[in-house]
Amino acid sequence: APDVRELLSSRIRDVQDYPKPGVVFKDITPLLADPVAFSALTDALAGLVDRHGATKVVGLEARGFILAAPAAVRAGVGFVPVRKAGKLPGATLGQAYDLEYGNAEIEVHAEDLGEADRVLIIDDVLATGGTVDASVQLLRRAGARIAGVAVLLELGFLGGRARLEPALGRTPLDSLVTV
Ligand code: PRP
Ligand code: MG
Repeated sequence: APDVRELLSSRIRDVQDYPKPGVVFKDITPLLADPVAFSALTDALAGLVDRHGATKVVGLEARGFILAAPAAVRAGVGFVPVRKAGKLPGATLGQAYDLEYGNAEIEVHAEDLGEADRVLIIDDVLATGGTVDASVQLLRRAGARIAGVAVLLELGFLGGRARLEPALGRTPLDSLVTV
């Protein structure tokens, strides 16, 4: 509903010149600290789990975890973490990807996902789309189907949605707030 989006948007704070001059950082901590807004966010994300028929929620380390875990609990499905490399103790699958400066790798426990799973990927922010792109590739290699991708905030001017189009096709990409 538009009023929910309005509430969520009102609790995201602009921080000028962070982490460097000229950048406006979108800070979601005021939203997390407001129990009404955080609960509304959790309801909205859990609603997407239902709507897209997801059997698991996948959260992207680190800020994605904060949103994804309560959404999974509220929707009544399991939670699977995608972690930065070297943090998971079991048998993992890994996916390397490029950042603006340098590169990174993410991992998932292969045993947590199977052919029967349809996952909803949740993260806080969609910027260039690099993190979600790598996660989609990783989860497909793990055998899962992607039911959808959901983010709280989409930075439209960075073109992440267009970048993900080839990988996602008709798979839904939902953002609750777009700037
Ligand atoms: C931020 C944000 C998203 C990602 C978006 O995570 O939480 O995960 O960047 O950027 P992209 O669309 O260009 O990939 P970050 O890697 O800064 O780390 P954190 O979540 O661990 O704080
Ligand atoms: Mg992140």
